[in-house]
Amino acid sequence: MRVAVIGAGIMGSGIAQLAATAGHTCVVGDVSEQALEAARASIDKSLARLVKAGRMTAAESAQTLTRLELTASIADAAAGAEVVVEAVPERLDLKRAVLSEVARVASADALLGTNTSQLSITSIGTSLGDAAGRLVGMHFFNPPVMMRLVELVRGLATADQTLARAREFAEGLGKQVVVCRKDSPGFLTSRVSAILRLECLRMLEEGLASAEDIDTAVKLAFNHPMGPLELGDFNGLDTYLEAVDGLAAAHGDRFRATIGLRNMVAAGRLGRKTGQGFYRYASDGTRQPEGA
Ligand SMILES: NC(=O)c1ccc[n+]([C@@H]2O[C@H](COP(=O)([O-])OP(=O)(O)OC[C@H]3O[C@@H](n4cnc5c(N)ncnc54)[C@H](O)[C@@H]3O)[C@@H](O)[C@H]2O)c1
Repeated sequence: MRVAVIGAGIMGSGIAQLAATAGHTCVVGDVSEQALEAARASIDKSLARLVKAGRMTAAESAQTLTRLELTASIADAAAGAEVVVEAVPERLDLKRAVLSEVARVASADALLGTNTSQLSITSIGTSLGDAAGRLVGMHFFNPPVMMRLVELVRGLATADQTLARAREFAEGLGKQVVVCRKDSPGFLTSRVSAILRLECLRMLEEGLASAEDIDTAVKLAFNHPMGPLELGDFNGLDTYLEAVDGLAAAHGDRFRATIGLRNMVAAGRLGRKTGQGFYRYASDGTRQPEGA
């Protein structure tokens, strides 16, 4: 199948690698030459790692690369595509514009997937006219090559057949699929992770335990690879605050941000990217020991 991935960032490059590995011809389009170069380098590195780990042969890795093309022309990337996965930044206007441009040149019945983390599929689809029936939320997780889940999200206009095709495509990439049947902010996964982190924040602000102990408790008791506070630092606390504010507007007070979180964001303690969040970080991003 011919697959177009639009946006060659963290998510797009991983999704493109998955598609090419699964045997599809995959063209990645991005407006930034620099992003395309970085995507190529990151895919090369990831494939080399998989070969080293014995998860694919050197020949399979080389074949995967022959199925992959990168271009700065979005129209060229999408031309004739049977599946399009959009992974441009999380802005409604941008996603609408990119998808409507892409839908014009892709195959007339192309499956249109958006990798939005939390925007409304229905709202994104309003720019697509009749093609909105072919749009579905296709939420991959970071890093896409390693994370097993794809959360499919149904917009108001999404057709049954679109959902079935999206499932087949994602399963063909080796993913396990869950379906969020309604276009509801936070879908399934973002709601759960937001509420878990909020409860950890509340416990921290009540002085129940240190950030480290709260993270350790969640990691070891529930087998999470990272603690919720640590993960918040990793993704950026400004991003998290924006997400919970959006969820509170949609679902009510149970997603209300804590005062402590608002203060941290106001003070620029945004996590790893600013050197301080729940923990402190050196300039190369490594976590500093407590009290250092
Ligand atoms: N990073 C994550 O952990 C994560 C997880 C799940 C979903 N998502 C979602 O995936 C999407 C992409 O996120 P990301 O982290 O890969 O972002 P990113 O910033 O790493 O990549 C986005 C890419 O889109 C490109 N781009 C911008 N405008 C474009 C245009 N008009 N046409 C083509 N390309 C354009 C940028 O140059 C950039 O390379 C977002 O909707 C995000 O919410 C991200």
